[in-house]
Amino acid sequence: MPPTTPDLLDAEYFTVTAQPTFVVDDLTLRPWSPDDAPAVFEAFQDSGIQRWHARSAVSVVEVRGWLEVWAKAWSEATHANWAVVDTGTDALLGRASLRDIRLPHGQAEVAYWTVPAARGRGVAPRAAATLTDWALNARGFHRIELAHSVRNTQSCRVARKLGFALEGTRRSAGLHADGWHDMHLHARIRGD
Ligand SMILES: CC(C)(COP(=O)(O)OP(=O)(O)OC[C@H]1O[C@@H](n2cnc3c(N)ncnc32)[C@H](O)[C@@H]1OP(=O)(O)O)[C@@H](O)C(=O)NCCC(=O)NCCS
Repeated sequence: MPPTTPDLLDAEYFTVTAQPTFVVDDLTLRPWSPDDAPAVFEAFQDSGIQRWHARSAVSVVEVRGWLEVWAKAWSEATHANWAVVDTGTDALLGRASLRDIRLPHGQAEVAYWTVPAARGRGVAPRAAATLTDWALNARGFHRIELAHSVRNTQSCRVARKLGFALEGTRRSAGLHADGWHDMHLHARIRGD
């Protein structure tokens, strides 16, 4: 039975095009390199990152494996991941990603973390805005979602700075080390 709606996007762009780098003043979003493993390992020693991303890292070798998966996900068009670094020094400031990419419906979820030393200066909102604008305005995505635990007030601040409307609360939708959390669902659609 033929579909009654066309697929919005296909995987070809991701399979034939190298992952782009974005330079926005002092922030650069670039593909991950295996050399980033020690800095990502260090970031995952932070209790905030461990808590909100429900993951810890036991070794640099383990993190190198994560980076291989993050890099490969681009060409599989499932999950696009960028290192957010200082434009001048290339020091790691955080990570920004578009995950759960659903090409037929032109949808994805934006996610982020920043290293403790880089917090409070708008790194996460600027990095997430760069990816959202690119996805909606340059790549033809229709809707970008953003989800966070209702207890993560800092992430809610980021969502609001980005202009992601709060659409509601998904009850008991995120599993964390201390149990299930209600999750805020925010989103921006093309034209917002
Ligand atoms: C949430 C997070 C990504 C925000 O990143 P950021 O680059 O600091 O973003 P902002 O600079 O816009 O700060 C966001 C809020 O964090 C709080 N904040 C400010 N300075 C801070 C600091 N030095 N340390 C911690 N939090 C700070 C403030 O509430 C701020 O909101 P405000 O602008 O109203 O003051 C970052 O704190 C983080 O990585 N936390 C741990 C992991 C996490 O929560 N990831 C998101 C999961 S959904």
